[in-house]
Amino acid sequence: MTNLSHILKESWTLVEEHQDRVASYFYARMFLNNPQLRDMFPVQMDVQRNRLLGAIVSTVQDFEDPERFHEYLRALGRDHRKFHVEPEHYGQVKAALLEALRVNAGERWNVTYEQAWSDIYDVIADAMIAGARDDQHNPPYWHAEVLTHERRGPDIAVFTCRPLQPLTFRPGQYVSIECRYQPRLWRTYSMANAPRADGTLEFHVKAIGAGWVSSALVRRLKVGDMLRLAAPMGSMTLDRRSTRDIVCVAGGTGLAPVKALIDELTRYNRTRWVHLFRGVRNRNEIYDREYLDRLAARYPWFNVVRAVSDDPGCTGCEQGNVSEVVRRFGPWHEHDFYVSGSAPMVNATLRNLAEMQIPSTRIRYDAFTEF
Ligand SMILES: Cc1cc2nc3c(=O)[nH]c(=O)nc-3n(C[C@H](O)[C@H](O)[C@H](O)COP(=O)(O)OP(=O)(O)OC[C@H]3O[C@@H](n4cnc5c(N)ncnc54)[C@H](O)[C@@H]3O)c2cc1C
Ligand code: HEM
Repeated sequence: MTNLSHILKESWTLVEEHQDRVASYFYARMFLNNPQLRDMFPVQMDVQRNRLLGAIVSTVQDFEDPERFHEYLRALGRDHRKFHVEPEHYGQVKAALLEALRVNAGERWNVTYEQAWSDIYDVIADAMIAGARDDQHNPPYWHAEVLTHERRGPDIAVFTCRPLQPLTFRPGQYVSIECRYQPRLWRTYSMANAPRADGTLEFHVKAIGAGWVSSALVRRLKVGDMLRLAAPMGSMTLDRRSTRDIVCVAGGTGLAPVKALIDELTRYNRTRWVHLFRGVRNRNEIYDREYLDRLAARYPWFNVVRAVSDDPGCTGCEQGNVSEVVRRFGPWHEHDFYVSGSAPMVNATLRNLAEMQIPSTRIRYDAFTEF
């Protein structure tokens, strides 16, 4: 761990236990001093669940791989164009952040801590501002019309939409989506297809219990509705230079980005074996089964293994968590890995791959966590 990251983590322990207080202070100070910022945030602000403070804190503490981190920040800056964030707003947020930390940390807060937060915030802000500036040829967000919407079980929907202006992305990437049923609430969803000539995009959404946006996208969205999509992000894209065979591990709607990668592979691949491990809890959550079976019948290099963790009677399915099932089918020493799904599923898979001594450079993943 670098010295700077050590200082940041150490200073965070001073406020970690009363994050709610820090969050309340941060937003109160920010909106009091800069009332014009209030309109960028969700109408109903539940401060404890609001994402900005948590996002800044986790971003600040996560800068171990400088090159990837820089690219991520540039993309985040592009993405923030959807909120109409301008360069001068960064200083306003920074002032509220530093004050919230200082006031709530107590007497052990010191100049070294303050300087460390200030320095890293500036590095992050500079990269985000540059990312947004270099994206001016694109709109801040894309309007897209919903063309199809199908329920694939009680909690899952697959829908397609078409942006009114061209939206360039790579298979495996994701975008933030806002719908009219939850204004100003943006959540990220992965495209489930490679770019198409007609510009349409496919998304798979699972409604999370009390989830605001996912429930609206599954239960209320309908054909003809307009969405707003922000700039594409994410690095779980195919390494086209690699000649290694591929293992994809997808939990639930984590199938979406993996389906996009497979879609891309169908356009040029002849030589790389592709093994898809699809994990769900029970057979009712297996959607797109026929589509994947058709692909497997058509392309000799592609095969699917389905794993159920909570459905002992499922025929044709492997029993167990998908991360364990992948392990059972190994060894996988010569493969590239693409992993996506819920954070627990992704973490379990990464642990298993580490135990199998797969180099981390061969693994790309996206965890469907929130900030
Ligand atoms: C890179 C990335 C790509 C993603 N791609 C997809 C995708 O293709 N399809 C898809 O369905 N989702 C995807 N997600 C998840 C999605 O962005 C939202 O987090 C999810 O839909 C919940 O949003 P919400 O507004 O409904 O829930 P919120 O209102 O934000 O949260 C409601 C409650 O549910 C909890 N919660 C939030 N997310 C989850 C979760 N995943 N599992 C369990 N509990 C949760 C929260 O802690 C909170 O208590 C992706 C996330 C990331 C980071
Ligand atoms: C260090 C600088 C910053 C970092 C690392 C950062 C990071 C993030 C991240 C990761 C999210 C959640 C993902 C998303 O919704 O896109 C987010 C949300 C948000 N950010 Fe930023 N951000 C920064 C600065 C700013 C600034 C200067 C503004 C302008 C006021 C801003 C406004 C917002 C808003 C409005 C949200 C949505 C909040 C919500 O939905 O509850 N951010 N930020």
